[in-house]
Parts: sequence; structure tokens; C-alpha cells
Amino acid sequence: MTHHRLAPYSPRLILGVESSCDETSLAVLEDGVKIRASLVSSQAELHKKYGGVVPELACRKHLQVLNPLYEECLSQAGVSPGELEAVAVTCGPGLIGAVLLGVAFAKTLALVLDRPLIGVNHLEGHLASVFLQEPELEPPLVCLLVSGGHTLLVHLPTWEGLEVLGSTRDDAAGEAFDKVARLLGLGYPGGPLVDRLSRSGRRDALDLPRPMRDRGYEFSFSGLKTAVLVERKSHPEVSVEDVCASFQAAVVEVLATKLLRAAREKGVSTIAVAGGVACNSELRLELARQASELGLRLVVPSPSLCTDNAAMIARAGWEAARLGWRSTLELEARANLPLSFRRSPWA
Ligand code: KG4
Ligand code: ZN
Repeated sequence: MTHHRLAPYSPRLILGVESSCDETSLAVLEDGVKIRASLVSSQAELHKKYGGVVPELACRKHLQVLNPLYEECLSQAGVSPGELEAVAVTCGPGLIGAVLLGVAFAKTLALVLDRPLIGVNHLEGHLASVFLQEPELEPPLVCLLVSGGHTLLVHLPTWEGLEVLGSTRDDAAGEAFDKVARLLGLGYPGGPLVDRLSRSGRRDALDLPRPMRDRGYEFSFSGLKTAVLVERKSHPEVSVEDVCASFQAAVVEVLATKLLRAAREKGVSTIAVAGGVACNSELRLELARQASELGLRLVVPSPSLCTDNAAMIARAGWEAARLGWRSTLELEARANLPLSFRRSPWA
């Protein structure tokens, strides 16, 4: 048993630790709502020239950065180590070496400070960012989790009733943005670049598919990326801006259609979107437009809460603590980790 359930408790100051990909992040959260400090050290520059994250380089950088970032985080928060009441850490999914470093760091702290350790699923963290944005928000809601590694549609009828409605069969939405940016020679990470160029492009310049838009809750983006490649070859005169705008319009249409259908079918009046792709300006605008038309409440975290950060991990840990969850020092790091991890047989 690496997770067990004790009496519910509410840590006043909780430390969040995030290192599952190419961002090292530490945060101190007060009473589950107030971010006393949240520091993110991005490795984007380091991986840029390789066009994607190089796992070994990512691990070395996490190792270098974790200790000094911890010191800086506590000093910014004005908190001494002894005041921390719990340590929450991403224990998966992610790059295994990178997750391991964060977990080892958090375990050491929990042991030395003699405080509870709480393992958090990275996606649970992204979902928690929605509640950091609007602290008084309560389930039920449906939320789209769209990042570089994942695309998931989840239904949260109650705090404990998380239901995954669908996920991607192949590429994640952010991965599709990054791959299209790469084939256009734009650089890494591609999402923000495609977003920016799309603003001066025509959305109907290329005729692209809307994969699985009207079918179920699953997603598929790899065919769309291939369609961009094929269309670009047969229409070399179309500008990069037009390609970006056409691609982005296709992704946004699929994401928005499915999220709104889920809201209708589940009968909820709150929709949310989280994860790095939730920074996308067209997705934000389109969801805002449709939500206001349908009278739905839309929650979109601020961009710094959408991309990887430890404040959301701290919030998810705080939420788990309120339900009584703790992890033991046997907590494992997992490259793949289902959202139901605390209840799964091996947990
Ligand atoms: O959540 P995140 O920071 O890390 C993961 O857990 O993967 O998401 C990173 C992803 C990248 O694929 C990046 O290209 C994408 O989010 N992204 C965007 C935008 N900003 C970041 N995609 C589209 N439009 C954006 N403005
Ligand atoms: Zn993420």
C-alpha cells in the first residue's frame, strides 16, 4: 500500500513539488487557496535546439535546480521549513527519471520534517488549477485537460466521483501543436508560436478534417497533423500563417464541440479547461463565446496556472488531504498513472 486513508485534515501550509517534464516547480499554498509563492524554472531553452525534451538533460537540470529553488520558494513565501504541514508531489505520469527526482526530493523532505507526504497525479494537478482559479467553485462540472502529453475529457459530479469520459487515441492536442510547428520549421514549444501566427492567418485557407468531432468523447490528432503535411505539399503558395490558422481552427472546433456536448449530456452548467493548451487564445475565445450563448459558467485558469506549475500540485494535494489521503515513503514514481491511482489495486 503506497496510499492510505486516515482522518481528513487540512494542512495550513503545503509545499507542492512538480518535475514531471521540463519544468521544475515548487510552491507554497496556504489554506488551499492562497499561493504564498510559486516558482517555475523552465528548461525550454535547454531543449529548444533538439526540437523536444531530451529526458537525460531534463533530469540533470531538475537535480541542479531543485535545492536552490526550494530555498528561494520558502524565502519568497516567508515560511520556514518547520512551518510546512505537508508535502505534495507529482508521482506520475511523466518522464520517469524526472518524476523520480521530484518524488525522491519530496520523500526526503517529508522524512526530515516529519510531515505527511501526498502523491499527486499530474493530471489531477491540472484539474486542481481550475479550483485555484475560482476557490469557491464546487462540482459538478466537466473539464477538458489539454497538455503536451495528454488530452482528456473528465466529468466531476462530486469531489470523489471523477469519471474519465474519453482521452486521445494517439497524439495529445499540445503534441499536435508542437509537431505542426516543427514541420513548419517554427521551433519548440510550438503551441504559443502557432497561436501567435494564427492571428494573421485565414482559418479556411486549407480544407482540414475535424477528427472524431461528432463521435463519442475520444480524440485523435495524428491524422490531422498528416493532413496538414499533405495539404501543405499540394498548396505550397499558402502562407505559414494560413496553415497555422487552419490547423488551429480544426483543433479548437473539435475540443470545443466535445466539451460542450459533454456538458449537455452530463447535464452540468459549469465547464472548464486546463493544461498548457488552455493558454490558446482561440480556444479561450471560442469557449467564452459558446458558454455565454448557452448560459454556461466557464472557468479557465490564468496562463501561469495552465502550464506546468507546483501550485496546482499543492492544491490537488490539499484536496486529497481533506479526503484523508496520505502516501507512504514507499510512494512510487510512475511513467503511466491512471487518475484512479489511489483506488487501484496496486496503490
Ligand atoms: O501542461 P503543459 O505545460 O505540460 C504538459 O503537461 O505537457 O503543456 C505544454 C503544452 C505544449 O505542447 C505547448 O505547445 C502547449 O502546451 N501550449 C499551447 C499554447 N501554450 C502552450 N498550445 C496551443 N496554444 C498555446 N497558446
Ligand atoms: Zn502538464
